[in-house]
Parts: sequence; structure tokens; C-alpha cells
Amino acid sequence: MARPVIIDCDPGHDDALAIMLAAGDPAVDLLAITTVAGNQTLAKTTLNARRVCTVAGIRDVPVAAGCDRPLIEPLRVAAEVHGESGLDGPRFPEPTVPAAPEHAVELMHRILTEHPEPVTLVPTAPLTNIALLLTRYPEVAPRIREIVLMGGSTERGNTTPAAEFNVHVDPEAADVVFRSGVPLTMCGLNVTHQALATPEVLARLEALGTPLGSLCVELLTFFTARYRRVFGFAAPPVHDPVAVARVIDPGIVHCVPAPVAVELHGTQTRGATVVDLHGVLGRPVNAQVAVTLETELFWDRLIAAVDTLGRRLRD
Ligand code: RIB
Ligand code: CA
Repeated sequence: MARPVIIDCDPGHDDALAIMLAAGDPAVDLLAITTVAGNQTLAKTTLNARRVCTVAGIRDVPVAAGCDRPLIEPLRVAAEVHGESGLDGPRFPEPTVPAAPEHAVELMHRILTEHPEPVTLVPTAPLTNIALLLTRYPEVAPRIREIVLMGGSTERGNTTPAAEFNVHVDPEAADVVFRSGVPLTMCGLNVTHQALATPEVLARLEALGTPLGSLCVELLTFFTARYRRVFGFAAPPVHDPVAVARVIDPGIVHCVPAPVAVELHGTQTRGATVVDLHGVLGRPVNAQVAVTLETELFWDRLIAAVDTLGRRLRD
């Protein structure tokens, strides 16, 4: 039985692949895509979500824009990684998929209230929309089966030495989510850095022989160049699809239970996720923390999803 999912994202090259994995894999029933400011401005991340849906043939999934800035911090985007458009590399056609008229938080609230079973939320961006949902509509918490997010890290950060981008952009929002009591899985940099889009992966995507496969190669070629320039990586980590893969098959992403706290006040560490893997502080466990990725299974599932979408468009 396909699992009902809402993706909350900031496309973003890896968000684009997360959307394709969710839409193309039979284990997921993608109910909605919501967007938030993060990698780029809200206007750009929403346009990019519409672009991805257009080129991937994702037509029956509402796309709704959410918050255009973090709860407290000013917005700082990641143009150095994702480009001025937020999805630099390919040339996209004019999107034919519209943005829904509702605010993302209202759409999530409506779906969570009306859907016959609890829904899994997969945030792959700053957690502003999710924090606002939980604060404005606390009564929907039991309608959320689980929050499986890409963000944080059990080790170092990527935006500061201590903080990962999604949590660093909006630490207050992340704090609300990690304290919410909703079942939570954290897929941090420690596990997403195992999802490297190597030349072999790009060759497999190109070999699909579909325009969508080739577009993914163009996205990842840009992403490779930027990750090499900014972070010195030989191959870029494709962060966001790891959270979707955990929903699809928990055997692809291995987790351990641990208390996780978000640092809000450290002058050098604000936005860090402090993961007590050995329980030394005696605090209650509030998250499943991803630690190992079955990389072959991961890439097989992602490439198969792109193939499914690409063939559906062609046939
Ligand atoms: O730190 C990686 C995360 O920040 C990913 O979600 C990427 O898309 C950016 O949003
Ligand atoms: Ca993202």
C-alpha cells in the first residue's frame, strides 16, 4: 500500500530529485508539494517546483507556496551552490503546472484533516512551514504519521562548521519541530554525504535514454561543478532524496534512536543539531537518526523512479 506523503522543499537540485523519487516510486502516494524560502527565494523555489513537475509529467499533485522568510533570521539563500535561479544548469520550458492558490500551511492543514489516514511529511528545506503548521494547528499533530526530514548532522555542518543549511537558515523552526513530540526521523549530512552522484550514477541516468534522464544529468553536472568549487567534493552529495528513500524502504536508510537538540544561543554553534548518540545526558529520545545508507539500493530506487517518469512521458 503506497504511503501518503507531502514533500516540503526548496528546489534546489537535490530537492528536484527528491520530488522525482517520490512521484516515480510506487511505494509513495505524493499528495502535495509545498515550497519554502531556502536555497533561493520563495518565488524561485516555487517556480522551480513547478518546472520540475512540468518536465517530469507530475500533473496531479498540487504545488503550494509557503513562507518567504525564516521565523526570526533574515533569509540567506545558497546561490553559490544552486545558482541564481536555484536550479541552474538545464534550460526549462515555461511551466504548465500552476501554483495552488492556498498557502502551503493551509494546504497541509486541509490534507492532514481530510486524508483518511495519517500522512508522512518529508521536509527537505528549512522547517519554517512545518513549524508554522504545528504552531497554528497543533490539533493536526496526531494526523501526522511521521516527519522524515533532511537536515542537521551528527557531525559537522556545511553552512558553518557546526550547522547544516536547512537548520541554520531557520533554527527556531527546527527547534519547534524537534520539540514537537511528533515521530521524527533526521537524515543529516552524516548520512547524506554517503549519497554521492558519481560519474557512474550520471552514466546510468544518461543510459535511460529519456529526456528526463538527460535533464537529471544536466542538473547533476551543474551540481558537481558547484560542490567541487565550494566544498572540494569530487562528486556531490544528493541530500534530499535520502529522506524520501527512508520512507520508501527503511532498509535503505539505517537509523538509531537518540535525543536531538537544536542549538539556538551558541555564538559559534547556532543552528547545530546536538545528537546525543550515547545518551550521556540522560535526555528523552525524540528522534530516529539516520546513520548508514545502502547506497546501491538508494541509487537503484532513484534511477528507477526517473526511468518510470521518463517512460510515462514518452509513451
Ligand atoms: O544542507 C543540505 C540541504 O540544504 C539540502 O536540502 C539542500 O537542498 C539545501 O536545502
Ligand atoms: Ca533542499
